[in-house]
Amino acid sequence: MIAGSKPVNLTPPASSGESTGRKKHLLDFQDWSVADIHALFDTTDVMAQVLERTIKRVPALQGFTVGTLFFENSTRTRLSFERAARAQSADVLSFAAGASSLSKGESMKDTLRTIDQMQSDVYVVRHVAAGVPYQLTKWTDASIINAGDGRRAHPTQALLDAYTFKKNFANFDHFEGKRLAIVGDVMHSRVARSNIELWTLLGGEVTLCGPATLLPRELEQFDKVTLTHNVYEAAEGAHAVMALRLQNERMTSGLLPSIAEYQERYQVTEKVMAEAHPDALVMHPGPMNRDVEIAGDLADSERSVIEKQVASGVPIRMAVLYTLLVGKK
Ligand code: CP
Repeated sequence: MIAGSKPVNLTPPASSGESTGRKKHLLDFQDWSVADIHALFDTTDVMAQVLERTIKRVPALQGFTVGTLFFENSTRTRLSFERAARAQSADVLSFAAGASSLSKGESMKDTLRTIDQMQSDVYVVRHVAAGVPYQLTKWTDASIINAGDGRRAHPTQALLDAYTFKKNFANFDHFEGKRLAIVGDVMHSRVARSNIELWTLLGGEVTLCGPATLLPRELEQFDKVTLTHNVYEAAEGAHAVMALRLQNERMTSGLLPSIAEYQERYQVTEKVMAEAHPDALVMHPGPMNRDVEIAGDLADSERSVIEKQVASGVPIRMAVLYTLLVGKK
């Protein structure tokens, strides 16, 4: 982690019933209250209506420029942020690390200061190292949105996951008492950390499940979070079950005896889902490795909202951009 970066605080803020005021950045949910999240979901509803029109574009961010700075690969996050910016008539400045002068030895700070001369109002940042989005807030006056930093946080993924649940769980009323089971490589997952942070902030409960080598025991200390190594126990009564990919690119040593054993013990299947709440949703943040962490037929089943999660990414990210740039002006 970069010096000066703040770890995710998984404890809900005391003032969770009121807005904590105008937001400049979205790095994690430390400065966000329950009221702020619900206001963002309300804005997302409006953005979703825009996306149902024949002409899916409004002038809300005309004159603004959104810079997308991806130092790590992405399909969903990058494309949906760019779609979200253009749907609000913003300009997009797209930076791809592999095709940049970083390869010629230019530093991260000089790279950002160079791009900053082209006057973006907000940067959407993904980096393999935890804390980079926080560090960038020190080097620019623009807003920073964390699009995934190492294994630390991926807040817009958690927002679109919670929003998808809210819109698709039968007779949804509130998050209190709703339990999300997250199964798989929790150790390397920023999606898991942001989902724990957001889901418990909203009043829900989280069960984490995986092999001992991929399930950090320290996560058990957080309120409303439980751990288990048994996937059937994790799914029992859960309102949503989220499978996570094995992040081989972040594993430095063999943390699993074999993929076959992992599939046998931790794959989310119809049989596992039989333990869950009758209306439970099947979720996956993507990218998905079919028939490894999730059975392919379950991913394609009626219960699955995996494609709806991707679709929710656009209005959620429209709402995040709008909220940071003009929301409460
Ligand atoms: N869920 C997610 O972050 O996907 P991408 O890596 O494709 O952006």
